Amino acid sequence: MFSKLSTRGIASRLASVAQRTQPKESAAVGTENSRSEAVFAREQKYGAHNYHPLPVALSRGEGVHVWDVEGKRYFDYLSAYSAVNQGHCHPKIIKALTEQSQKLALTSRAFYSDVLGEYEEFITKFFGYDKVLPMNTGVEGCETACKLARKWGYVEKQIPENKAKIIFARNNFWGRTLAAISASNDPSSYAGFGPYMPGFELIDYNNVTALEQALQDPTVCAFMVEPIQGEAGVVVPDEGYLRKVRELCTKHNVLWIGDEVQTGLARTGRMLAADYEEVRPDILILGKALSGGVYPVSAALANDEVMLCIKPGEHGSTYGGNPLGCRVAIAALEVLQEEKLAENAFKMGQLLRTELSKLPKDVVTVVRGKGLLNAIVINPKYDAWDVCLKLRDNGLLAKPTHGDIIRFAPPLVISEAQMLESIDIIKKTILSM
Ligand SMILES: Cc1ncc(COP(=O)(O)O)c(C=O)c1O
Repeated sequence: MFSKLSTRGIASRLASVAQRTQPKESAAVGTENSRSEAVFAREQKYGAHNYHPLPVALSRGEGVHVWDVEGKRYFDYLSAYSAVNQGHCHPKIIKALTEQSQKLALTSRAFYSDVLGEYEEFITKFFGYDKVLPMNTGVEGCETACKLARKWGYVEKQIPENKAKIIFARNNFWGRTLAAISASNDPSSYAGFGPYMPGFELIDYNNVTALEQALQDPTVCAFMVEPIQGEAGVVVPDEGYLRKVRELCTKHNVLWIGDEVQTGLARTGRMLAADYEEVRPDILILGKALSGGVYPVSAALANDEVMLCIKPGEHGSTYGGNPLGCRVAIAALEVLQEEKLAENAFKMGQLLRTELSKLPKDVVTVVRGKGLLNAIVINPKYDAWDVCLKLRDNGLLAKPTHGDIIRFAPPLVISEAQMLESIDIIKKTILSM
């Protein structure tokens, strides 16, 4: 394509691209927030329209706060869907990132690195599993778990070839790949993208009778479930559900895959949400905050009986287990422990829900959650999107889901004073509706 352009033509095109890489000051003439407008317009013009962001253009983050391009400060009550549990740009994690990036960033798994083994030992001892399989995004961690479970089903459970089934809970969310949407019952996820992955079946969430029935089928290799359904709108199952899941999966020789990509890593007030019921899945999936929000790192953890079913060449990723991600993940896990973020999430979550429960019931009909993974349900006579716009105007960022639910999940480093200040913003906003 370049051969068709003169050298001058290339230079002038590159110059004009370079000019456009910053929203222009000149575009800011006119309205007060036109710098933001320029950011919105450029994304709209050059990016695929696969998201519908709240209109706020962010340029900086620190701890529980983010700032927009006009310099206005907000509480971040989404935490990048729980990836930023340790707070924005945590100094210890950024230090790990910058130091390792100057030494060795990527080797691929064609060679050993002096960091991967250290990370593997650290994370497996941290969570008490024999082995870890490192990946990058949450959906890759979940896909890895599905592959592990199928392989275990054929090798260990002797399921006839190509017959292995995985059971999922209705309203699950584990990402956007073809496998993930094949497990979804939300048309906005799956419609128009078929044909779908075979061997996936759905049962109701929080229904042990349905689970027991599904597990009778000898071709079932795994049940994959979130301890709290995050994207479904922070749906908390009955107490005892996870204990029952553990018991039934053990009884029927089926692997329990715990998707703690969103609930894990101190978010719900325990290191893992399953810790509330003192049970452990056979395959644990982590992601998001495993890197403290600075780099995509995910992991599937399991014991040898499961993990060693996969042999060299059967699964992997160019970036999975790279030195940079490993260093960042060690630092991110250390921060959770050193700063006692699970304990803080537990305490601050109680405070948040107590205060939210005092809001007028004709606006906020439900308050639910655990730790700092919470949601409110807005009376349908109001628009949750409008509530989020007003929250933004008052200095707090949150995003509606499913039309009437707003998730409240600030970084876990939030102090009591910051919690009270942000609760005031929510109160003031709701009372103005
Ligand atoms: C429970 C759960 N699993 C998996 C994922 C997918 O993670 P990622 O977006 O990093 O692929 C998500 C994302 O929101 C999630 O909430």
